[in-house]
Amino acid sequence: MSLERGQFSSKIGFILAAAGSAVGLGNLVAFPVAATKNGGGAFLLMYAIFVVAICLPLMIAELSLGRNTCRNPFGAFKELSNNSPIWKFFGMFMMITPFMIGVFYTVVTVWIVGYLFEIVTGNLDVLSQAETFGQFINSPDVFLYMAIVFAMVKLILVGGVKDGIERLAKFLMPALFVLLIALMVYVLTLENAFLGVKYYLIPDISKITLPVISGALSQAFFSLSLGMGILITYGSYLRKQDDISKSAFSVAMTDSGVAFLAGLMILPAIFSFNPETDTSQLTSSSVGMIFVFLPKIFLALQADIGYFGASLIAGIFFILVLFAAITSLVSIIEVPVAGFIDNRGYPRDKALLIVGELMAALTVIAALSFGMSQFFTEFVSYAGKVKSFFDILENVFYDTILPINGLIVCIFVMYRWKQANFNAEMETGGEGIARTWMQKYVNISLMTFIPVILALVAISTIALKFFGVNLLA
Ligand code: PFF
Repeated sequence: MSLERGQFSSKIGFILAAAGSAVGLGNLVAFPVAATKNGGGAFLLMYAIFVVAICLPLMIAELSLGRNTCRNPFGAFKELSNNSPIWKFFGMFMMITPFMIGVFYTVVTVWIVGYLFEIVTGNLDVLSQAETFGQFINSPDVFLYMAIVFAMVKLILVGGVKDGIERLAKFLMPALFVLLIALMVYVLTLENAFLGVKYYLIPDISKITLPVISGALSQAFFSLSLGMGILITYGSYLRKQDDISKSAFSVAMTDSGVAFLAGLMILPAIFSFNPETDTSQLTSSSVGMIFVFLPKIFLALQADIGYFGASLIAGIFFILVLFAAITSLVSIIEVPVAGFIDNRGYPRDKALLIVGELMAALTVIAALSFGMSQFFTEFVSYAGKVKSFFDILENVFYDTILPINGLIVCIFVMYRWKQANFNAEMETGGEGIARTWMQKYVNISLMTFIPVILALVAISTIALKFFGVNLLA
């Protein structure tokens, strides 16, 4: 059965594709700002510990589930639980999550394409005005850019695993590294750049509070694309001779390395624009940062390098963000596509068509929910606030369900699939890990404290997002 499914052709192909999924808006913008606001070096250290101690074991578990079954999340849960209805329900849950996050992420990718187009056509000055973003997201142009994004994703995914996803990652990921380093080097030469580096790196332990700790864990979890079914699906395309734990380690390091370097690009840029920046006032929303704040900073460069030079730097930045977003977007859309291929036996293009149509309908609704349609803009109200359709996607699927899915994976792997089977899969292609302290750590942590921590994160997030109660304050 696995023969008809796609497979990555090499270990590096897999690592680049999985890193492509992991490296996204979370790394390029949210991480640097979160680190600066929340204790600089102290945050970085804590984040690194979370990546290695909590996220890495989970990543190994997700990849092992996928590779063992050669299935999407639903198929994996179904097969390893002998058709248990309750596990099939959870498996379904893990298919709906990526689908809905895909809708959310498509909307943001559409805006990136739109901004890139505006920069290339000489409109950086317009983009840097405060009111532009609100007008842009409510203009009919977004539907044109949406069609472009869907066409791009379709073009990539129709090629399948090796000729679509892997080929794209092998080209875009190295390009992303080069652009990131080039921009970082340029930004570091700006006046007052080192003030930003200082703020980014100097540890301030007093900022490490309970909400900051929980936020750092959620950030690491999200950044590594955990709990989204992506790593189960990509694991299902991994060759038996590849070492799961070493590959997971490389993906986690690449993702964290990119996040770290992004800080050395974003913070110096902010401080060279305004050496007096009060970091506590910086927005922690990636969207606000990318579409409102950064265009202003890029435009200010015109004093030194002229309007064309400033537009060039802005253009490079938006291309970088677009590359990061596209490799993440294809990874998340691949999950439901794999679901239709595995579970219904559909050919890839038919599966893509169905997923594409369903997603397009919901993405249009999400795009209408910033003001174009009052019904979707004021869709419901909870925690004392009116919420749009887009807000719900963010609160339910981004904020809340990811740690719950992580919890489900821990319990399923350790208590239903069982430790011995999990270890056997980990050792396939990675014999060296057998009976090491590392393997013992992965087993014990997934059985004990990782599910407890994820349950606590989920409970506190639900209390905060849906009932307005801050349990961590
Ligand atoms: N790791 C991705 C990021 O940091 O942006 C998370 C992600 C989000 C992956 C959305 C895929 C996706 F569609």
